[in-house]
Amino acid sequence: MSATLIDGKAFAATIREKVAGHVRHLHGEHGLTPGLAVVLLGEDPASQVYVRNKGKQTVEAGMASFEHKLPVETSQAELLALIARLNAAPAVHGILVQLPLPAHIDAGKVLDAIDPAKDVDGFHVLNVGRLATGQKAMVPCTPLGCLMMLRGHLGDMSGAEAVVVGRSNIVGKPMAQLLLGENCTVTIAHSRTRDLGEVCRRADILVAAVGRAQMIPGDWVRPGATVIDVGINRIAAPERGEGKTRLVGDVDFDSAVGVAGAITPVPGGVGPMTIACLLANTVTACCRAND
Ligand code: GUN
Repeated sequence: MSATLIDGKAFAATIREKVAGHVRHLHGEHGLTPGLAVVLLGEDPASQVYVRNKGKQTVEAGMASFEHKLPVETSQAELLALIARLNAAPAVHGILVQLPLPAHIDAGKVLDAIDPAKDVDGFHVLNVGRLATGQKAMVPCTPLGCLMMLRGHLGDMSGAEAVVVGRSNIVGKPMAQLLLGENCTVTIAHSRTRDLGEVCRRADILVAAVGRAQMIPGDWVRPGATVIDVGINRIAAPERGEGKTRLVGDVDFDSAVGVAGAITPVPGGVGPMTIACLLANTVTACCRAND
């Protein structure tokens, strides 16, 4: 038997349509245009692609997109000054500083300089704390996207065993908080976890967010489990020709697809949800700012 594929592209398209509808309403009824500012330091190719896609989808949803592309040698003081200007700009409702930042910048300091009400990434320590204490927070986009797919696929998750593999601030930790909020029994596993395979096999819901290509084999997946693969890893694909590559997740899809009940593919699973949730967070920030 083969798992149901959870189609992130379709979920994301539905969210974008809803966002565009909200934006039309905000504009028509209240004269408001949600605005998203994205700040990118340097010329990392992957970051440039993300930023371009964010800008394009922001405009397609009817929102204003402000892009600030700065040289890699931009100082921390200059970056903090830009953030202060964006915090004060009424047309900007959401601010995203693309990570990773160059080594000479203290990322924590920069993220905490963003007005928490405009922190559409949900990385400000105040939003992290609000999420952890069950208060109204800006929620990081990738785990929020995973949650939406899980809700759409499973509905009620109360009492389910959820295992999150990975403990990053961007995905693993907020994902665990969101699953706790759904009344799951949550385990956070990571590279030092003893008997990782055993731990994964307990999971009704398995979220893989480690950033290591195909590290979770099918025999770590409990039969019938719902598997959310957050990994986006590029590996060599000599079968496609010399020097060719392909994208794979943190889960070994080919062996997991016959065991899981449902699984997100890579690409086309979690990936498209992140930007869709960013757009949704920007609309939320705009609405809260004008409440
Ligand atoms: N770099 C990779 N993913 C993300 C993300 O979700 N937000 C930001 N700001 N940078 C990233």
